[in-house]
Amino acid sequence: MFSAPKGASDLLPEESGRWSATVTGLLAPSVRAGYRLVDTPIFEETGVFLRVGEATDIVTKEMYTFEDKGGRSLTLRPEGTAGVVRAAIEHHVDRGPLPWKVRYAGPMFRYERPQAGRTRQFFQVGVEALGVDDPAIDAEVVTLGVRAFEEVGLSNVTLLLNSMGDEACRPTYIATLQSYLRANAATLCRECQGRTETNPLRALDCKRAECQAVLATAPVITDHLCVPCKDHYAEVRSYLSALGVIWTEAPRLVRGLDYYRRTTFEFQHDGLGAQNAVGGGGRYDGLSEALGGPSLPGIGWALGLERIALALDAEGVVPGSDEGIEVFVIPIGPESRTNAVTIVDELRSSGVRADMVFGDRGMKGAMKAADRSGARISLIVEPAGTVQLKHMDTGEQYAVPLAEAAARAAAAEQRDQEAHDAAPPAAPETEEDDA
Ligand code: HAM
Repeated sequence: MFSAPKGASDLLPEESGRWSATVTGLLAPSVRAGYRLVDTPIFEETGVFLRVGEATDIVTKEMYTFEDKGGRSLTLRPEGTAGVVRAAIEHHVDRGPLPWKVRYAGPMFRYERPQAGRTRQFFQVGVEALGVDDPAIDAEVVTLGVRAFEEVGLSNVTLLLNSMGDEACRPTYIATLQSYLRANAATLCRECQGRTETNPLRALDCKRAECQAVLATAPVITDHLCVPCKDHYAEVRSYLSALGVIWTEAPRLVRGLDYYRRTTFEFQHDGLGAQNAVGGGGRYDGLSEALGGPSLPGIGWALGLERIALALDAEGVVPGSDEGIEVFVIPIGPESRTNAVTIVDELRSSGVRADMVFGDRGMKGAMKAADRSGARISLIVEPAGTVQLKHMDTGEQYAVPLAEAAARAAAAEQRDQEAHDAAPPAAPETEEDDA
């Protein structure tokens, strides 16, 4: 007996309708904003990812790196941005109209210790806007993240916002932070003592109580921004205010990748425990140059579907699925099968989601299958060539001519669907109904 690899899981039909509706919903605002689909390989030359953060856990500890039969070092993508920027360079998007606005959806791979909301294969949807550093595009991208959660019906998402500065001001800040951490080294955990020397910014992310106490009074980047970064951040915030976006200033927010410059942000959901980041992103000016490309400033985000599914559960949101069967066809006896398969095909060709009972199930089994299918209408095809149309909600049943069966079923389905949509929601059941 095999099972799915540790940290990876199967998406089964019971869950997949909601899943694909969520993917579509999250990206719908970005589609309306002109972000077009891009799809890059799920593996890249390892060097592509080495550039995104040589001092980060994602790159040093979590990459699925392997050598192919041609001796090339390849890595399963731990995130989407590096591959998108690699593709943008390779296809010279800098020579075309900018910004180059793209969206993507697909699996990512990180060798992490699995726990609730943290898996080794996980699914992200994301957007990237390349080629401009206008603060208005920062505001657009951040707002599209906010709208993504609204679109799928999530309410309890908080936006954390920060500016990480740039190569002009960040080194001075890092040096200031480093001296502060060195001065407090005795109180820090061992890992943070190490980070103080290798990547002091990462220490800001430490959740340990002893470090938190030190970090609470650590110098913050937003007090050390150079004038251009300060102005850029002020403009981003003023656009966000105008757009009615609500955020929390998070001057200690550091992201798990090294490529960020200036605007950075994270979306957190309050019903998820430790793995509460449902998405995050930021600006990564300089990444294109690091990958050998032209100047191509960029900003984007990625949202994690596994955590969003948990957040939807926590909020009790059930996005609709449009894959359910609408009309179910039941042939009575072998001589009715040909009529049944042709009716099913006619229904499907006219855009109705239709299915039929396969195999010899008997009337009881067939009706059970019809119930399970969730169809509002079933058609019982009789050996004499007559057809009974049955409304599954009410049990009402009447004969319709064979030649009209598909059209009548489609019309009846639509009427029942409209009646259902127009009906006031059923009163919640209480135990004291007659009190
Ligand atoms: P990230 O913050 O590493 O950013 O990942 C974005 C989201 O992916 C996280 O907030 C989380 O919801 C989800 N995620 C990450 N790791 C896991 C995991 N092991 N299991 C389940 N979900 C996970 C990026 O990936 C950047 N590429 C975002 C970006 C786009 N920045 C600029 N453009």
